[in-house]
Amino acid sequence: MWKSLARDLEVLLDASDHPVTTLANAAALLFRGIDRINWLGFYLYDGKKLYLGPFGGKPACTSIEMGKGVCGTSALKKEVIVVPDVDQFPGHIVCDADSRSEIVLPLVLTDGSLFGVLDIDSAELSRFGEEEKKELEVISRIIVQKLPVSL
Ligand code: SME
Repeated sequence: MWKSLARDLEVLLDASDHPVTTLANAAALLFRGIDRINWLGFYLYDGKKLYLGPFGGKPACTSIEMGKGVCGTSALKKEVIVVPDVDQFPGHIVCDADSRSEIVLPLVLTDGSLFGVLDIDSAELSRFGEEEKKELEVISRIIVQKLPVSL
């Protein structure tokens, strides 16, 4: 599954498209292609906070402060965060009450600046482990390569 998703992203995404176009197609492909998830999407950084970008799943929180929730923490630290049980993550922001576990990956451009984050939620506890983290890091790198240096 991961190999074919990575290949499909490489083929589908075009670095000359507007980043919203690129992220919209990436969200659609990944939301349909990854098993046992209930939400997948992008939060984009506007220089102050994160705002909701293209996603699949139920309507979600429109903005997240830096340092808040899983997304804001990942964005601030520029680190991947795996949360096996969202109830155990202090300050987790509930957008879809079905979400039990999640992974958030920062999208850091080649110049070191933060573009946003990729947030993936599952209704299963501990859906994301070491293998998923490794494969999703490959996927987020492909997405970053298809983004312009600035929005
Ligand atoms: N899980 C996030 C909030 C966004 S929704 O899950 C779509 C968080 O705590 O950062």
